[in-house]
Amino acid sequence: MILMHLTKEEEKMLNGEEGYAVRKSMEILVALGDIYGAERLIKVGSVQVAGVSYHNLGDAGLEFLNELAKDGRVKVLTTLNPAGMDLENWRQLGISEEFAEKQNMVIDAFTRMGILISCTCTPYLIGNLPRYGEHVAWSESSAVTFANSVIGAKTNREGGPSALAAAFVGKTPCYGLHLDENRVPDIHVKVNTRLVNISDWGALGYSIGKKAENKIPYITGIKDAEVDELKSFCASVVTYGAKPLFYMQGITPGSEMHQPPKDAVTVEDADIREAYENINDEVENIELVCVGCPHCSIKEIAAIAELVKGRKISANTEFWVATSRFAKQLADKRGYTEVIERAGGKFACDTCMAVAPLKGRFKSVATTSAKGCYYSRHNKMLTKMGSLEECVEAAVTGKWS
Ligand code: F3S
Repeated sequence: MILMHLTKEEEKMLNGEEGYAVRKSMEILVALGDIYGAERLIKVGSVQVAGVSYHNLGDAGLEFLNELAKDGRVKVLTTLNPAGMDLENWRQLGISEEFAEKQNMVIDAFTRMGILISCTCTPYLIGNLPRYGEHVAWSESSAVTFANSVIGAKTNREGGPSALAAAFVGKTPCYGLHLDENRVPDIHVKVNTRLVNISDWGALGYSIGKKAENKIPYITGIKDAEVDELKSFCASVVTYGAKPLFYMQGITPGSEMHQPPKDAVTVEDADIREAYENINDEVENIELVCVGCPHCSIKEIAAIAELVKGRKISANTEFWVATSRFAKQLADKRGYTEVIERAGGKFACDTCMAVAPLKGRFKSVATTSAKGCYYSRHNKMLTKMGSLEECVEAAVTGKWS
C-alpha cells in the first residue's frame, strides 16, 4: 500500500504510462517517500547525479544505467558528478584502455538520458545554480552542503539512483531538508581561531563535523569567507559528521532568521591543531599531489599557476589539478594551463582523487583538502594536508617538509 499522496499524473507514471525508466523512478521515489514519511512529491529545479565513475559502478551499475537509458530522458537540468577519468586526456593520467572503454560506456548512457556531461562536484560554478529556497535533488555531499547552506536551496543528500529518479520524474519526495522544520540549527559552534590557509577551512570542517555529529551547526565567530573557502568547508564538515546544512552568522543566507541554539561547543586553536594531527600521517616522500577537492575554481587555478611559474615538478611526484572542463577552458584562454603544464603539472578534468582508480598506484598523497585525505585513506594512501603553497612545494621537491 502506498502511503504518500500521488496525483493522477504521478499514478500514471507509476503505472508505466511514460515508459520503463519513469516507472522505475516512481517506484524508487514512492519507496523513499514512504520510508521517510513524505506526504507528497514536490517539483525540483535541478538534479546533480553522483555515481558516475565506473570504478564505483562496476558492470552491474553500467547495466542498470543502460536499462534506464533505453527510454529515460531527464525532465529538468541535470548535471553529473566527476567520472573515473579525464574524458579527453585519460591516457596522461595513467588510466587503462579497459577502464576508459567502460567509463565511456557509462558516459554514453548518461548522454542518451539528456544529462549535461559536466563531470564536476561544483555544479554551482558552471551554471547549475539554484535560486534561494528552490527545491533541488542533488547527490554528492559537498555540493549538497553548498546548495543547502551557501545558496539556501533545499535538498536531501540523494544517492545516485534517487537523484536519477528525480531527474526522470522532475520531482522528489518532500521530507528531510525539504521541510523548514527540519532546517533549524541545533548546535551553536563558537569559532575562536584564525583561519589562514584554505586547508584550515578543511580542518575547521573536520573539527565541527566531529563535534556536531549529525546535527545542524549554527556557527559564530567567523568574520568573512570566500566562496572557495566555503566550498572547502562544505566538503569537510559533512564528510566528518555534520548534517549537510549549516548556518554561518552574517555570512550564509538564513542565518539571520535563527538564533544560536543553547547547546554549544567551541573550536579553538588546539582543535585545529588536533584536526591536522588526525588527518596527517607520518610520511616524507610524496608520490601524488592533488589539489581540487572540491574541484578548483578559476581563481584557485590562477593561484596554482602563480606558484608553479618557472618551477619544475619532481620526477618522483605527479601533480594533478582537478577541475571541471569549463574551468579548464577558461584556464586555457588565460594562459594558466600552459604555465602549469610547462612546470610538469597535469590537469585532471572531469575526475577526482576519490573516484579515479588510484588504489595501488600511489602510496602517499598531499592535498589541500580534508575530504581528499579521508577518501585517499580509503584508497590505502598515506595523507598530508596543507596549504596550497605547501602542496606545490611537495610537488616540486617530492617531499613534505
Ligand atoms: Fe569533489 Fe571528489 Fe572531492 S567529488 S568534493 S573532488 S572527493
